[in-house]
Parts: sequence; structure tokens; C-alpha cells
Amino acid sequence: MTTTILVLNGPNLGRLGTREPEVYGSETLADIEAGLAASVPDDVTIDMRQSDDEAELIGWLHEAVDRRLPVVLNPAAFTHYSYALRDAAAQLKQAGLPLVEVHLSNIDEREEWRRVSVLEGVVEARIIGKGPDGYREALEFLVKERA
Ligand code: DQA
Repeated sequence: MTTTILVLNGPNLGRLGTREPEVYGSETLADIEAGLAASVPDDVTIDMRQSDDEAELIGWLHEAVDRRLPVVLNPAAFTHYSYALRDAAAQLKQAGLPLVEVHLSNIDEREEWRRVSVLEGVVEARIIGKGPDGYREALEFLVKERA
């Protein structure tokens, strides 16, 4: 049976490649997606999406609950203040679905306000500061968990 994993990306991540490359690296989201697609087993499908819109991201988390899909989420700046996103993420936890939070940069070593993640407590794992490899690790974690 094929497993679909949603890989969701929040605001400004569509600008990767040119956005602060010294912080986020030079790969675009499409580059990251191509690398991820090549790294997962044949029976795993990655559905990678990006939105600058909180409501759209929340809708995708609802979709994950309804379709029972595991999720990798880089909530970007919403990480630090979106209680609405946290409440949506909590529904995955309630449904017994795994959610892995990923950040390209090490948010624990940047500005004070980035050290807070309002998703704490509702994510199953959190991978920060590993660049695009963080997404790969998150997928590996979810693929292993499936077995
Ligand atoms: C980010 C870190 C956030 O603080 C920031 O707002 C982002 C990207 C990261 O991947 O390192 O947009 O989530």
C-alpha cells in the first residue's frame, strides 16, 4: 500500500533560494522537493505544498486528519505565534497521527522570539538547524514509524 506524506511549508518558504541564503541556504523549495522525492522508498509519495496563508495551512492539516496522513510541517514564522495552527496540529495528535516539525535554521540560536514554538507538545518530533537534511530526517522518521 502506498503511503502519502504531506510536507507543508509556511510563509516565505516559497522564496527559498534567494531569501537570506546565509541563513536558509541556496536550495529552492523545488530543489528540496526533488531531493526528498528521490530519498523515499517507492511506496511513499510526497505531497509537498507551500502557502503564505494561515487558513490554507490549517485546511491542509484538517485534510491530513480526514485522510489520515502523516505530516512534516515547517510552519515558518507561524511557529512562533499561531495558536490557530497549533490547535489544528493538536487534532493530528488527537487522531494518533504523527507530525514532525522542521526548521531549516537553528531557531534556538537566533532571536529570542524565534525560540518559542507554540507547537510544542503537539508535535511528535522536532528537527531544527539541519537545512534541507532536516526534511529528509523527518521523512525517514515517519517512514520508520510506519513499519
Ligand atoms: C524557519 C524559521 C522561522 O523562524 C522563520 O520565520 C522561517 C523559517 C526555518 O525553517 O528555519 O520562515 O521556520
